[in-house]
Amino acid sequence: MRTILKRPIALEGEVTLPGDKSISHRAAILNSLATGEPAHISNFCEGDDKKSIINCLRSIGLEINSHIGCEHSKEKECLLIKKSELHEPRNILDAGNSGTTIRLMTGVLAAQPFFSIISGDLSLRSRPMDRVIKPLTQMGAKILGRESNRLAPLSIDGGSLQGISYTMPIASAQVKSAIILASLSAQGKTTIIEPNPSRDHTERMAKFMGGDIQINENTIVITPSTLKTNNITVPGDISSASTWIVAAICHPNAKIKIKNIGLNPTRTGSIDILKAMGAKLTIENKRIENGEPVGDIIAESSNLTGTEISGEIIPKMIDEIPNIAVAACFSKGKTYIKDAGELRFKESDRIESMFQGLSNLGAEIKHEVDGLTINGTHKLNGGYCNSFGDHRIAMAMGVAGILSNSETTIGSSEAVEISYPNFWETLKSIQR
Ligand code: S3P
Repeated sequence: MRTILKRPIALEGEVTLPGDKSISHRAAILNSLATGEPAHISNFCEGDDKKSIINCLRSIGLEINSHIGCEHSKEKECLLIKKSELHEPRNILDAGNSGTTIRLMTGVLAAQPFFSIISGDLSLRSRPMDRVIKPLTQMGAKILGRESNRLAPLSIDGGSLQGISYTMPIASAQVKSAIILASLSAQGKTTIIEPNPSRDHTERMAKFMGGDIQINENTIVITPSTLKTNNITVPGDISSASTWIVAAICHPNAKIKIKNIGLNPTRTGSIDILKAMGAKLTIENKRIENGEPVGDIIAESSNLTGTEISGEIIPKMIDEIPNIAVAACFSKGKTYIKDAGELRFKESDRIESMFQGLSNLGAEIKHEVDGLTINGTHKLNGGYCNSFGDHRIAMAMGVAGILSNSETTIGSSEAVEISYPNFWETLKSIQR
């Protein structure tokens, strides 16, 4: 599919977001491992990644149904997760395009007393899996993958595991979560040491459900524990919100309100950076829901100045960097994005995808091994760019498209289906 975009005179309105993808995965998986009443999960993430995690869990014995209009979710769909005995899947589990599904499920499956195989689409089968295989193997799991245990499909001969002490070579919430999920039913304590803090949804939710998890700076200690099921309302996805924030702050005549955004401090790096660049962002209605901070953001036309983004903040904004690269094009001076080599291992190589897309639209941009340098010229010319099959690139380039001086065509724009199926309709609805 191709989507053609033109610059509107103004951007204005209120948007609601799909549920946070990371929190939705934790809500479904942790409730699947817990004991107690069936759990209601409202505002679950949308799109193909939702199908991937639900289908994997159904294949190992979970009964997952959806309904509309219950007491937990008046207008939106609510998922009901009922646990029965987990069992060996009868077929290969398909994680589709979702790194979160495959890595977190590998942690779950490693601790189950049955055999399973998990795989995914072409993009997922090229992404590194040794980062989860190594620590889980140290715990006693038997996992094999293609290319010397590096790539999916993965075969997992699950069973009882031992607690370990593991110093993570990279800050990755997916790896950390796979180890935590495995360690909840291992023998003995597990200690994980992170190089930099990454998103902590698994720790927060497992604790909220009764798990014994102690956190001291970058060290997490998990004592095997039984979790209790819990109803969860998933907040809106800050990664999706950041596309609307960047659209508003870069357009000269814009004001957009985004409601119910998850504002966990391990995810708000992009908001901190954009504020430091001069973005007019007002946070309202801040509250805590199910142990997670949530609020509304009003984003308005702003005068931005380039900056350097590097070090500890990178894991706190890793999925928002494509949008920040667009904002850098509309800032005064240079923006340097460094220490972001992990972007090369996402749904596409996001350093190359953004470099090619923004270059095609006329940006002054250079690519480095671990980042991008952008000279803000306050304009993009428009032209053709491709999503490279990556939902976050499709959305970031969509925003670049409506900010460009002439028509922009986004190739493979259907990639938004992965996490935000009505993204293009919402983009239309805020244009004046
Ligand atoms: C995620 C963690 C991040 C992020 C991904 C979702 C998660 O990946 O990029 O979209 O839900 O844990 P890494 O853990 O690989 O950094």
